[in-house]
Order: sequence, then structure tokens, then C-alpha cells
Amino acid sequence: MTTMEQRRNQNAVQQQDDEEIQHGPFPVEQLQAAGIASVDVKKLRDAGLCTVEGVAYTPRKDLLQIKGISDAKVDKIVEAASKLVPLGFTSATQLHAQRQEIIQITSGSRELDKVLEAGGIETGSITELYGEFRSGKTQLCHTLCVTCQLPMDQGGGEGKAMYIDAEGTFRPQRLLQIADRFGLNGADVLENVAYARAYNTDHQSRLLLEAASMMVETRFALMIVDSATALYRTDFSGRGELSARQMHLAKFLRSLQKLADEFGVAVVITNQVVAQVDGSALFAGPQFKPIGGNIMAHATTTRLAMRKGRGEERICKVISSPCLPEAEARFQISTEGVTDCKD
Ligand code: GTP
Ligand code: MG
Repeated sequence: MTTMEQRRNQNAVQQQDDEEIQHGPFPVEQLQAAGIASVDVKKLRDAGLCTVEGVAYTPRKDLLQIKGISDAKVDKIVEAASKLVPLGFTSATQLHAQRQEIIQITSGSRELDKVLEAGGIETGSITELYGEFRSGKTQLCHTLCVTCQLPMDQGGGEGKAMYIDAEGTFRPQRLLQIADRFGLNGADVLENVAYARAYNTDHQSRLLLEAASMMVETRFALMIVDSATALYRTDFSGRGELSARQMHLAKFLRSLQKLADEFGVAVVITNQVVAQVDGSALFAGPQFKPIGGNIMAHATTTRLAMRKGRGEERICKVISSPCLPEAEARFQISTEGVTDCKD
């Protein structure tokens, strides 16, 4: 079950006394029923807040930035949103039950799924794939675009995929090959992937606004950003721009986390690595570290390091996760996307 569905259930329980049971995520227009004027609701939507959840998770100071929304109006809006979206404490028992029902999307390799928590990439949080060139990051993203469309009992998320491509390496042809393997209709699979090329970091961030408005309309299970950091390396250069770069990146990652919370999508971002120049290289040969520093490390829930093995073999290591041990899995890249090693 996705966060979105969990919330639906929560809402259903809370409102079981009502005649009509409501389901989240709630379109922002529902704030009108709670007394917010339609012109103000439109201002929220124009600012990219398409759901009541989106409003509820936004800091007050950001709401105040919206033109025509006064201090008093923010109070009213926040109060109205909090009536629909529970923001308070819940019991750990309830949380435990909810977590057991979170959907995982299969990577295409059983070995890899095994080292991921309960069988795949998790919905409702950010997973980062980092590694050298050709380590298989983009290939795994392609595979997930197909598997996220599968029924849940086959390791899917029963939803569409969204792909933000910052490197120009997305290939629909690969999706057709992977769809074949899972017995899915190629044309349908392509139709269910919304694609956008990102040209600079501002554009990449703006695309998330459009993403939110599309996610209100249709169920998406997956959001890919391949790569999340490439454009930051070109848009910001040198030490002088480092702090501006990190601030921009932090904001972008926060918007991604918001999409994960708001819509229960699995967010998968890829990241490049740079050679690490410190003492550790002396002992273990060249070491690589992911780009983005602490900002990236803290924003992602699960980090997976990918590296090349022999031939088509690849190795994926779970680096940090709230509850996974550090473990490695071998997989292979083939015409059919990510698979188990065939030896
Ligand atoms: P960068 O984006 O350059 O950092 O690399 P990446 O980690 O995204 O690598 P990517 O996922 O693009 O992996 C590329 C590897 O997949 C190459 O070694 C290709 O040979 C391999 N590959 C891509 N398509 C196919 C295919 O159809 N069949 C097979 N067997 N291998 C493929
Ligand atoms: Mg790539």
C-alpha cells in the first residue's frame, strides 16, 4: 500500500461516522468547502500547491510568499488544511502496520530485491543510485519505469512513471524490450511514462510543479530524476558558487520529498561520483564519493552504490538506509533491462 492509500485508509477510518467517506490526496479545491475563497484556492494552485496535503506540508513563510495571501488568510488556510490532513502524533503500532503495507517496486533482479527492504524500491521516499559511468543507473531507471506499472502481486506499483532526464539518455526503445519481458503491451507502457528533458537547474525544479499537477489527476507510482546533480555541476561552478548550489539542490530535493509524501510515489534519483582525494585512497585504491555532500546524504532515505563487475555484471551495495544492513547484490544488465546474473 502506498502512503497515498494509507492516508486514504486513515481518512476513511476517521470519517467513518460520516455518510460519505472521503479519500486523499485531496485536490486543493476541497479547501473551498472549508471556507477558503475560490480566488485564494486558485492562487494556491497557481503557486504549484495542487493538493490539500501540499498546502499542509508547506512552511508558513512559503505560503506568505504567495501574492495576495495575507497573514490572516494563511492562518485560515492552514487551519482548513489541517482538518483534512492529519499532522499530529500517531501510535508506533499504527505506524508499524502502515509500514508493513508500503509498496515496493521490483528492480527486475531478485538478488537485488532481496537486499532492499522487503523486495524493491520503496514508495513514499527517495532512493539514490550513485556510481561511475556505465554502472547501470540509467538501465535500472528504465527497468523501474516498466515494473512500476505491473500489478502489485507481481512486484509493481500499479501506476504510471514520470521521467526527468537531465542527461538525454532516456531511450523508449529500451522500455519496449523490457515490457516484452514482463508480458506488457509496449504501446501501453510508453503511454504510461511522462517524459521531460531538463535543461537547467531552474527548469528542473519548475518541472516538479507540473509533476504535482499531473499527479493529482492520475496515479503515478514512480518519479525518476536521471541525473539529479548533473545540471548543478554545469550551472554552478567553482567554490564561489558552492553555497548557492547547495541551497538550490536542497530546495529541489525537498520538493521531491514533498512529492513522495503527497502522492506516495517512489522517487528514484541518480547521482554521479567523483574521485575521493583523502587518506583512504592510499589504502584501498581509488575511492569514489557521490556528489552533493551532506545535503544529498541527508535528503535521501536509501542510498545505493553501484559499480561495474565483469562484463555485464554489476554490483549494488546498500550504503545507508533507516533499517537495511549494508549488503551487496549482484545483478546483470541485459536487453531485458536489469536481471539476475545468468551464471
Ligand atoms: P552514466 O549515466 O554514464 O553515469 O552511466 P549509468 O550508470 O547510467 O550507466 P547505464 O545505466 O547507462 O549503463 C550502461 C551500460 O548498460 C553499458 O555498459 C551498456 O553496454 C549496457 N547496456 C545498455 N543497453 C543494453 C542492452 O540492451 N543490452 C545489454 N546487454 N547491455 C546494455
Ligand atoms: Mg546514466
